[in-house]
This record gives sequence, C-alpha cells and structure tokens, in this order.
Amino acid sequence: MSEFITHEQIVNAADFVRGHISHRPTVGLILGSGLGALADAIETPEIVATADVPHWPVSTVQGHSGRLVSGSMGGQTALVLQGRTHFYEGYSMGHVTLPIRVMIELGIRTLIVTNAAGGLNPDYEPGDLMLIRDHINFPGMAGNNPLRGPNDENYGPRFPDMTAPYDPALRALAHRVAADDGFVLREGVYAYVGGPSFETPAELRFLQRIGADAVGMSTAPEVVVARHAGVRVLGISTIANLALPDPKAGVTQTHQEVLAMCARAVPRLVAVASGVVGRLAEAA
Ligand code: HPA
Repeated sequence: MSEFITHEQIVNAADFVRGHISHRPTVGLILGSGLGALADAIETPEIVATADVPHWPVSTVQGHSGRLVSGSMGGQTALVLQGRTHFYEGYSMGHVTLPIRVMIELGIRTLIVTNAAGGLNPDYEPGDLMLIRDHINFPGMAGNNPLRGPNDENYGPRFPDMTAPYDPALRALAHRVAADDGFVLREGVYAYVGGPSFETPAELRFLQRIGADAVGMSTAPEVVVARHAGVRVLGISTIANLALPDPKAGVTQTHQEVLAMCARAVPRLVAVASGVVGRLAEAA
C-alpha cells in the first residue's frame, strides 16, 4: 500500500459515495471517539459503510463505527463521517486524510471536526467543550505532515498558508449558538500527538508550557488538508479527561473513561454543530 493517495483514487472513492447518496452535501462533519451519536441528529439519513468505499481506511478503534451518513442538518445538506482513522492505527497520513479530499470532491466547503481530548488547561473540567483556536501539529512539524509528497494542485498550493486554520467567524457563531442555548464554550490550542500511548507527566508539562490547552490524537492532519483546499473549518474538542502532570495517585487514563465522558457531552455538541450549520449565513 503506497503512502500517498492519487487523485484518481480520491475521485474513485468520491464517485462511489456520490452513487450511493441522493443529497449533495455542502457541510462535512467528522465525529471523534464516543461522539458517534451526533450522527443521529441527521434527518432523512442515507448511510454508506466506509468499508465498502474504494481505498477508504478502515477504523479499528472502539467507539468509531465506520459510516458516512448523509442527510439534512439545520436546513443544510451534510455528510457526517462516523469513525475516522488515526495515524497510530498504522495508516499513512495520506490515508488518514483521504476522507477530507473525498468530501472536497463531493462539494463540501465547510468542515466541522470534533474529537475527544485531554484537558491541559487547569481551568478545564471533564465534559467541557473547547473550540479549537489553533493547533500544534507535532507529527507534522517533525515531518509527518499530510501534505508531504507530491503536491496535488487540484486541491491547493505546495506551501499553504496556516495563519487562521480555524475560521474566526465560525468560532464567533459557535459562541453565540452556545450562549443562546445557555452554555459556555472554552476556546484554546489543541496539541496533536501521534499516540496511542497517553502522555507522560513530563510530556504533559511540556505541552502546557508551550501553550496547549488540550491534547489529542487526531484532527490536525485533517484540518491541514481541508485548509490546503480553502475549506472553512470549525474544530470542537470534548474535554474527556484532565491530562494534568500531577494526577491524583493511582488515577490512570483509560479509553473507557474517555468514551463515557464524551457521551455526556453529545447533547451540547449536537446543539453547537446543528446550530452553527443552521445559522451558517451569519458567518458568511
Ligand atoms: N491524551 C491524548 N489524547 C486523548 C486524551 C489524552 O489525555 N484524552 C482523549 N484523547
């Protein structure tokens, strides 16, 4: 399996999806660990199993079911990916970000990415939602950038700008939506690490000192590929656990706890995502 995905492979995958849905989505959503229930907010859903889509990387993580759900949300046509794949599963960055390019081929111009993250900011509490203002892409900075390899000019330039990866107008709209619904969103910097092991105390201290508010194992590569093509991005982290360097003795991190905390955050996440999609005209 080559590390890089060709334009033809993307087009094949997009053609397959287009042939199995009747909607023409303009908004894409990617759901993180334990956040799959967000797909239930899609009306008149049509479902494609990602295992059937040519060249699609198959998710192996518990809490990620591998479906594309197309339908309407907040009066817009949306395509939801439930079950993303991660670099730590052994896929190349090209495979991890194939779903983004397929969404771009299908006509999506706005992307909402969600994830489960560990909270590094001592003010955060498990269950908080954090809008991503910016990210630190550790694997990317060290060479594992999803745009490594031949640049596909069909999507964007060799050296894409990343000065505003997370759309300020979409963030402002998300804050208004949450406020109208009676809750508050945090906003901070997401540090993307390769995983799959959780961070050591020294790593967490390091991440805090360089200004990260949350840490997780996804999202940044997808956002880089979306921004390369000029797609507008809103990123939302669910603070699933506190990732603090001095945890109470005997408290260790488990994936089960992450999933349980995410389930509690889903109703607020649905409110933000569907509210933003329904009011997109306000962020035009
Ligand atoms: N660290 C990294 N990724 C995560 C965490 C964490 O503490 N929680 C959920 N995803």
